[in-house]
Amino acid sequence: MSRKDGGLPGGRTHMCGALRAEDAGARVELAGWVARRRDHGGVVFLDLRDREGVVQVVAHPQEAPEVHRVASNVRPESVVRVAGEVRARPEGTANPNLPTGEVEVVAARIDVLSEADTPPFQVEDRVEAEEAIRLTYRYLDLRRPEMTATLMQRHRIVATIRSFFDERGFVDVETPMLTKSTPEGARDFLVPSRLQRGKVYALPQSPQQFKQLLMVGGIDRYYQIVRCLRDENPRADRHWEFTQLDVEMSFLLEEDIYGLIESMFARLWRDVLGVGIDTPFPRMAYDEAIGRYGTDRPDTRYGMLFADLSDIFAGSGFRAFASQVEGGGRVKGFAAPGAAGWSRKELDALVQEARSRGAAGLVWMAAAGTEVRSPVEKHIAAEEVRAVCEATGAKDGDLILIVADQPSRVSVALDGLRRLMAQRLDLVPHGRWEFLWVDRMPLFEWGEEEGKWVSVHHPFTAPASGDLDPRTARSRQYDVVLNGIELGGGSIRIHRPDIQERVFEVLGLSPEEIEEKFGHLLRAFRYGVPPHGGIAFGLDRIVMLLTGRDNIRDVIAFPKTQSGLELLTGAPSAPSVEQLDELGIRLAKPSDRP
Ligand code: AMO
Repeated sequence: MSRKDGGLPGGRTHMCGALRAEDAGARVELAGWVARRRDHGGVVFLDLRDREGVVQVVAHPQEAPEVHRVASNVRPESVVRVAGEVRARPEGTANPNLPTGEVEVVAARIDVLSEADTPPFQVEDRVEAEEAIRLTYRYLDLRRPEMTATLMQRHRIVATIRSFFDERGFVDVETPMLTKSTPEGARDFLVPSRLQRGKVYALPQSPQQFKQLLMVGGIDRYYQIVRCLRDENPRADRHWEFTQLDVEMSFLLEEDIYGLIESMFARLWRDVLGVGIDTPFPRMAYDEAIGRYGTDRPDTRYGMLFADLSDIFAGSGFRAFASQVEGGGRVKGFAAPGAAGWSRKELDALVQEARSRGAAGLVWMAAAGTEVRSPVEKHIAAEEVRAVCEATGAKDGDLILIVADQPSRVSVALDGLRRLMAQRLDLVPHGRWEFLWVDRMPLFEWGEEEGKWVSVHHPFTAPASGDLDPRTARSRQYDVVLNGIELGGGSIRIHRPDIQERVFEVLGLSPEEIEEKFGHLLRAFRYGVPPHGGIAFGLDRIVMLLTGRDNIRDVIAFPKTQSGLELLTGAPSAPSVEQLDELGIRLAKPSDRP
């Protein structure tokens, strides 16, 4: 390979990790980091690392004394260039755990290009350093083979997505970063304007309105891999700055979206993992998801579905349950297979778990023959026990977990307990990919915090029928769930200005607010708007699932901590007085906060 034909830069002949047995005899030029140095009775071995892997370099004291001297003194993580010859490792010394393990490079020359200080942690996959140290020295962390591999996989995933959409006539259009708020349910990040004093831009929570305006603009099919920003509490699968695969189409029907997205995932799983996935994906109505799994992102890889026990306990002698039913609450539960023998301590911990998820409490019943052992066994009639076992499908040796509370609290608590029990009982099958569409959502839900109706998805989602009564209206929203994780969601949009306006009214917006916040959209809808719809996916989540990582920060090159610090650069930092003056801003002292 030469520079001219697009070969490796710097005159290298190979990447370190690419050498194999068939390269024996080749003269090579490599460059990389010294991952390790070992001195074996005079012969020095260097593990030379680049993004493709590690290869062993050998320096002999007699054959090449100067090379040996350099190799003996080079410090770990220094950058070196090596010229030498590839040879098969001597009999019995091959390393089967290393892709390059059958060969080594006998160095004829070693140049140190950059000396490294002692790194603050060892650059290797079994990292023991705390995350804060890893993030402060992220460039060292990224050298760890699993991190490099993850970033390379992420690139492969993005490249596959791009060619998939390109082949289908989708156009990649960039949308503004400094813009107006689009409600996606989180707090906005705001950027003060210097030229328009006293005003702010919002960083986009999503390009939602722009992609709709692109449809009005005649683009027909749009996609973008785009950074979105939401000021919400980070979680294992939630980051402030995350990336969406954002899609919108004109003149589409739900079936077009379902078909397109199923093909995309089939292609990704095939190209990235070499795995076939079943299409079409099953579809589950929102009500069933909430009713049977307590969540709109059900993990369907295992059972323990919920049974509604409210009818059994309506009017029961067990007042704790009966009074919940009388007050409009529900009693629901599920049976965890084979967990009847759990110790009192383990069971108490489950009760705590339910409480920490907001439920008033948890009642457990350990099924033993036709009876149950339970802290409330004296209060519950035999026929109630029988009915509970039948409804939950509990068999001898199972543990029934029951929560009685307001419906949403029951759902949240039981969903958490079900996921926990699945982990503890090792019920989660490995290597299974259960994709699922969840649809037939309500259009609105009551926002306890807001004290008004809010959109289940966002206000641009089309209603399923003419019904806009917030208590009963259904929407044309659809979500994609994989193994219990929400990968994405979208909807057919409203394209009639009168319906859009009525939805804003249900959401409690005054005519002035509608004009101020969304006048641009309603105006656009008066100039010829195609029926349209789309979807967006959390790209980071897709990468997490495809690379088997369980924290979103591990698939983002430069993430922030839980508390929003970018440890590498020290952001956020205090602005200078000049900067604030230009913006016309005076900062309150932290102690002045309301
Ligand atoms: P939604 O708000 O459901 O829809 O977002 C789409 C997907 O983006 C991912 N996601 C996140 N990933 C990481 N960190 C976050 N903080 C975060 N927030 C969301 C999720 C989610 O499913 N405009 C609509 C889409 C549409 O209607 O077309 C939207 O943004 O995987």
